[in-house]
Amino acid sequence: MAQPFALDRFLPLLNSCCTLQDGVLVSSSAAEGTFEVLNPATQEVIARLANQTAADTEEAIDRAEAALPAWRAMPAKSRSALLKQWFALIQQHADDLALLMTLEQGKPVAEALGEVQYGASFIEWFAEEAKRAYGEVIPSPMSNRRLVTVRQGIGVVAAITPWNFPNAMITRKVAPALAAGCTIVLKPSEETPLSAIALLTLAREAGIPEEVFQLVMSTRAADIGDVMCHDSRVRKLTFTGSTPVGKLLMRQCADTVKKLGLELGGNAPFIVFDDADIDAAIKGLMLAKFRNAGQTCICANRVLVQDGIYDTFAERLAQAMDALTVGNGTEQGITTGPLINERAVAKVERLVNEAREAGAKVIRGGQRDSSGQGFYVPTLVTQATADMSLCREEIFGPVAPLIRFSTEEEAVAIANDTPFGLAAYFYSRDIGRAWRVGEALEYGMVGINEGGISNEVAPFGGVKESGLGREGSRHGLEEFMEIKYLCMGGV
Ligand code: SIN
Repeated sequence: MAQPFALDRFLPLLNSCCTLQDGVLVSSSAAEGTFEVLNPATQEVIARLANQTAADTEEAIDRAEAALPAWRAMPAKSRSALLKQWFALIQQHADDLALLMTLEQGKPVAEALGEVQYGASFIEWFAEEAKRAYGEVIPSPMSNRRLVTVRQGIGVVAAITPWNFPNAMITRKVAPALAAGCTIVLKPSEETPLSAIALLTLAREAGIPEEVFQLVMSTRAADIGDVMCHDSRVRKLTFTGSTPVGKLLMRQCADTVKKLGLELGGNAPFIVFDDADIDAAIKGLMLAKFRNAGQTCICANRVLVQDGIYDTFAERLAQAMDALTVGNGTEQGITTGPLINERAVAKVERLVNEAREAGAKVIRGGQRDSSGQGFYVPTLVTQATADMSLCREEIFGPVAPLIRFSTEEEAVAIANDTPFGLAAYFYSRDIGRAWRVGEALEYGMVGINEGGISNEVAPFGGVKESGLGREGSRHGLEEFMEIKYLCMGGV
């Protein structure tokens, strides 16, 4: 199927890195081979890019290291001004950034536009926070000494970002790094490099120096990760992706004792108590489950519903799901785009089949969608149990398994019985329960009567095997800074 518009509209955003050849965006730079970027809705090749190497990564780190002193020495207010200019340019090009994202990632254009705004909000936020990286004056225990702390950017940062948020996961890392006075080398996902190139183009146009923010684009993730982890000049590695890869990177970073920021996998419980406002819970679940076709780390993975409302809730959820429309995200009115690739669809298929074989009931969906190779019908599974693979593995697809429970204690025990601890949600109108359950859930983020918890001012991150550190919020800047203690004697 041909694109409904010409790809050349994106060339200004791709900074002459690409030309259009036979309807495909092709990068001009030399490297060892090329890799293809596919539109997951049509399986068409939309770009063919130079496949960069470990040597390219080393060179990028050389440049980042050389650029560090000048960038770090720049007043925070000047760095802030450059970030604000970047933010303004993103606003200006928001529609094209969104469309480009839909083409390479699949999410509906309206949702992609939401992500562009979400991504930009981190740049605006950290542009402001850059000016507030305060130190402290500590009351001295000795009369002839004065004790102070200053906060300084950690140094060269390496970042690895995923395909599910091709824009916002980049800005959530790059903006605080730049604000803190760090230089950064980023490897975006090879599935969605075009959004990264577009962000880089706009950063350069805003005046952010070339060596301060660089990209390495490649399918050679292991080689590039290896260089990033072992190079002692890189002082922080920040990664969003799976828990197994996070563990590997953590091991590889041990030799150089790097600071780590890890946003890893989740297995979010979404608990609905008998006393919940059911309308609000359905609305929250539709967002927490079906955003990005279920492909977010904080998507509701298991829906725990209390006995008294279980059947009504299942019925009402099935009705709400009828409003979902599956198809190519560039078309009007589509709510659910394709999954990122065949591997993702096959995984969802396996999990649903295993649940079925173990006694769960598929009451809606349960198969691939006729819209094309990458699509899966939004699926509702009842009589799911906590031990099913569908409830233990991260689904990353539009499938809602409903588990029945009787008591608050049981719900909390099921919710916490996982190595993951990223996000959890629950709905209850009992204020005592809201505190008890909020405190008992072993998660970094808890939505209470709310299914949409992400924003730039709140700390995003997990506990247990879901990761280390926080992104966004004032804590997000600290992750890229070191505290230095200065003790002045002879006063
Ligand atoms: C993620 O899935 O990793 C990010 C989700 C979000 O920022 O809301």
